[in-house]
Amino acid sequence: MSIFPKNLQKKLSLRRDNNSLRLLTNEKKNIDFSSNDYLGFSQNKTINDMSQRICNTQKFKNGSTGSRLVSGTHTIHLETEKIIADFHNAESGLLYNSGYDANIGLFSCVAQKGDTIIFDELIHASIRDGIRLSNAKSFKFKHNSLEDLEKKIKKSEGTIYIAIETVYSMDGDSAPLQSIADLSNKYNCLLIVDEAHSNGVFGESGRGSVQEFGLENAIFARVHTFGKALGCHGAIILGSHDLREYLINFSRSFIYTTAAATHSIATIQAAYSELSTTSELKKLQNNIVYFKNGVSKKNLESKFVKSDSSIHCCILPGNDIVKDFAQSLQQKGFDIKPILSPTVPKGQERLRICIHSFNTHKEIDALLTELASL
Ligand SMILES: Cc1ncc(COP(=O)(O)O)c(C=O)c1O
Repeated sequence: MSIFPKNLQKKLSLRRDNNSLRLLTNEKKNIDFSSNDYLGFSQNKTINDMSQRICNTQKFKNGSTGSRLVSGTHTIHLETEKIIADFHNAESGLLYNSGYDANIGLFSCVAQKGDTIIFDELIHASIRDGIRLSNAKSFKFKHNSLEDLEKKIKKSEGTIYIAIETVYSMDGDSAPLQSIADLSNKYNCLLIVDEAHSNGVFGESGRGSVQEFGLENAIFARVHTFGKALGCHGAIILGSHDLREYLINFSRSFIYTTAAATHSIATIQAAYSELSTTSELKKLQNNIVYFKNGVSKKNLESKFVKSDSSIHCCILPGNDIVKDFAQSLQQKGFDIKPILSPTVPKGQERLRICIHSFNTHKEIDALLTELASL
């Protein structure tokens, strides 16, 4: 019999009782309306072939062999950081093994004792965890509320950091980026922007929301992840040369981990190359518009969070209800996942529908018909 303590068993039982137990599934036969693979890049053959070609130009290695600070930095890491920083019009960039690592590594080390981090109340868990590891004070502000943000800025001390996402992962709505950048500038704050769900979706060739609004110079740090539209894995923090040097010296999730293998980095480089020329982005944007028009035609707008991104959320309060709805859609061939509390607040449970470039109009029509009939 394996050992497992009673108090932890109790926590699991509570989750079962609340119908909120998280389970792993690997069903992949249904129509994909749930993955973050917005452009279908995870299955893109051109990227795969290019990644192999790039790998063949590198010294063969199954793994990176160490931390970036010891033996894990290879030519391809430095080359890819330069390529991505240039693509995003940033002074420099530093690769991380995931977006989670990037956010905890950034937030835990930049704000010092006596400083303040103000974050949107819907900010991603990785940023919350990074803030918890920092010695700074922190306040949340009401989602996308400039008024509440300004109120919190006035209460803050030390250097003030503001943390937002360009597109919120569990809602799909966008931040009022220009107005927040203006407010940040007015009070001399340092703005940090997570572009996980706008990278590859918004801006010219998917460069993201910051570049769409020409705000590169108004932002202290940008986090771009590669596990969503880029279809692979990892992340980069973009900012000044000084920020890169600071992170190399103080960011613990960068320092104390084995660097990503060269073949992973080659895939990231290939995905960025594809992003510059792909026609998938246009298809994605068309499908988002097609889905939104369909929602409006079926009079379902009041159920949905307003969104221009790939993520569209249909609010169905209650874990039991939203699970039943999702199950019914799954039985009809749609891969759609329920988002339960406590991942979202109680009463805000939802179906999270992700639109992709590869979804056909017929599939979208069929889904809308099901949603309307449910
Ligand atoms: C807004 C946001 N930031 C960061 C992350 C973490 O990125 P990764 O999946 O690369 O760890 C996610 C992923 O869920 C996200 O949605």
